[in-house]
Amino acid sequence: MATPTQQWLIAFNWKMNPITRKIAMQLFTATKRKATLLRKVQTVVCPPLPYLDLCKRGTPRCALGAQDIFWEAEGAYTGAVSYMQLRDLGVKYVLVGHSESRARGERNSDIHKKIKAALLGSLTPIVCVGESSREERGGHLEVVKTQIEEALYGLPKTSMKQIVIAYEPLWAIGKGAVRGATPDEIFEMVIYIKKIVSDMYGTKSIPPTKILYGGSVHPLSVKEILLRGGVDGLLVGRASLDVKAVVEILQQAEALKR
Ligand code: PGA
Repeated sequence: MATPTQQWLIAFNWKMNPITRKIAMQLFTATKRKATLLRKVQTVVCPPLPYLDLCKRGTPRCALGAQDIFWEAEGAYTGAVSYMQLRDLGVKYVLVGHSESRARGERNSDIHKKIKAALLGSLTPIVCVGESSREERGGHLEVVKTQIEEALYGLPKTSMKQIVIAYEPLWAIGKGAVRGATPDEIFEMVIYIKKIVSDMYGTKSIPPTKILYGGSVHPLSVKEILLRGGVDGLLVGRASLDVKAVVEILQQAEALKR
């Protein structure tokens, strides 16, 4: 079994899909079946809330992730879900700061509180960052820098090994995507994110924070992104609903040496 640092981290974000428990169960079972066979991939499945319980029989190699978290532990917060509740369900990862949540009003200061809550619950926050467009010169770097600095502000260095950062440029995400980012574009941002983190914490924050890429990932782009993008894994949206694509993405990653 490869150690966590030798493994690719592949997270599947189902978003608000599928619309029935039956399909959710089929999708989860097929994903888990494949994930369990792999040695070089740590898989994470992030179903919507109503299916978390359904998918809780994950395995160490196919962990359960949530798509959101609230910062309080319990109480009168209608519609919110706490780290205590997620942890009790066996959730290990949680998406924070996804652009679709930011579009509904989530701010960097909220994201910061959500990361703290996740850490308190021993969950791994997958913190999503990314610019909305690349029109301005270097503007995309500034956007990501602010997102990371404000999200991580004041968190102890020791927590950095538990945090995953996902670079997800908005223009590359979802049905409206212009295109996926190229390995060169991803690589540039990965280097930049590492610099932001090391400027904040010093170079001795070991082991380094994992960085994922997300945005129009499909089986044919996996190899290029993982080998040339400098990332530790992927955050997959649409393709995570297609069993054939899921199996191929996992298989492609398993075949690659880190
Ligand atoms: P996509 O979504 O793979 O459908 O582009 C990625 C994401 O939003 O995490």
